[in-house]
Amino acid sequence: MPSAVITGANRGIGLELVKQYIANGFQVYGLCRKNSDALKQTGAIVIENMDLSSADAIQNSLKKLKGVGIDILINNAGVLADESLQSMSASSIEYQFKVNSLAPLLVTQTLKEQFNPGAKVGLITSRMGSMADNSSGGRYGYRMSKAALNIAGVSLAHDLKPLGTAVAILHPGYVQTDMVNHNGDISAAEAAKRLVNRMNELNLTNTGTFWHSNGEILPW
Ligand SMILES: NC(=O)c1ccc[n+]([C@@H]2O[C@H](COP(=O)([O-])OP(=O)(O)OC[C@H]3O[C@@H](n4cnc5c(N)ncnc54)[C@H](OP(=O)(O)O)[C@@H]3O)[C@@H](O)[C@H]2O)c1
Repeated sequence: MPSAVITGANRGIGLELVKQYIANGFQVYGLCRKNSDALKQTGAIVIENMDLSSADAIQNSLKKLKGVGIDILINNAGVLADESLQSMSASSIEYQFKVNSLAPLLVTQTLKEQFNPGAKVGLITSRMGSMADNSSGGRYGYRMSKAALNIAGVSLAHDLKPLGTAVAILHPGYVQTDMVNHNGDISAAEAAKRLVNRMNELNLTNTGTFWHSNGEILPW
């Protein structure tokens, strides 16, 4: 049975990714800070207490995956704070960097030894980390941390290619989750379905591409 490891599995897009991969016949490992009733019902193996802002918590949680061969890793968890030039705090920006940029890199680096041949990594980023797409400013910590994730994704694509692992840098769309007060234009289930399609199309030729979940290639 192929395996999929998904962060931020307890709610939102991560929860729907868990459901999709289980429906597709995967053994899913759902990583989160705290389990949810919805995640419990999926049948995923749940690893809790994974606070992605803590390098120690990340390593302690990943130890529980020791010996598991991994086919799909999706670094989905993320956090959004709404800084403006008038109102921002260094700690909030640093926190977003830890969760949105550094954690996906640490998780991928730690788990790479466990990747099966042909394994694939998805980084759930945002088009808000695109320079070319930034027409409205603001959201400093989120934009900066997702831009940092994007460049980490390009380096990972280069570095993991010789191992046969491809990396997708994926904007999910504007999705109806807690992060955007459910104001999105697609459901989390629809976003997860599209993201799984993009992961299915991912290969060593198109590795390192920045995609919208609808298949459009996004500008850096
Ligand atoms: N929704 C959108 O329109 C949209 C657009 C572009 C990109 N995205 C990206 O899509 C991904 C999923 O977001 P979503 O929309 O599903 O948001 P969400 O419903 O707010 O879910 C966020 C997930 O990230 C987890 N998380 C946050 N901080 C964490 C931490 N310190 N340690 C461990 N887990 C943490 C949350 O866990 P807790 O329950 O423990 O907080 C939750 O599982 C994120 O990377 C986000 O940036 C979303």
